[in-house]
Amino acid sequence: MTEHDITLTVNGAEHDLTVEARTLLVHALRDELGYTGTNVGCESSLCGACTVRMDGEAVKSCTALAVQADGAEIRTVEDLGTRHDFHPIQEGFQEEHGLQCGYCTPGMMMTALDILEENPDPTREEIREGLEGNLCRCTGYQNIVNAVQNAAKEMQPAAVADGGESDDDPTPATDGGEEL
Ligand code: FES
Ligand code: FES
Repeated sequence: MTEHDITLTVNGAEHDLTVEARTLLVHALRDELGYTGTNVGCESSLCGACTVRMDGEAVKSCTALAVQADGAEIRTVEDLGTRHDFHPIQEGFQEEHGLQCGYCTPGMMMTALDILEENPDPTREEIREGLEGNLCRCTGYQNIVNAVQNAAKEMQPAAVADGGESDDDPTPATDGGEEL
């Protein structure tokens, strides 16, 4: 099997590693570099559990080869915050009960970051559209959308205070069978 020397900058730390041509980015992150916050689900681009940021864009790391990421800046969920200093997205998921088993959560959070960097004050519909590629088997999506909205308010208090769109959805949280 052909091997390649590549360099990945992950959460600001540069790593030189040797990977097989077939190695997926998610496996390089988890198995070679120890960034196990990124989960592996379907390995076929369906669930979004493996979502990371690559050069500022959300990517499903099971769909990229590690060699394709050579030279890239990768951001994983480990870079969001710490146990004692949560990122607003983490706070949002905690406060709005946006997770149960937590398996989808790293990918949800990294996609949420993507959504909020592109649009700091998204509507609920825009959040739902942004999260279309991320599946959750146990939490109602209602709570996940709430979590992202909560984070948006934390990250952009001025925009909301200025009368940013208010589309609060009075529908109560539902079970895990809710359609996104
Ligand atoms: S593990 Fe990558 S999309 Fe499911
Ligand atoms: S919290 Fe369990 S899959 Fe989403």
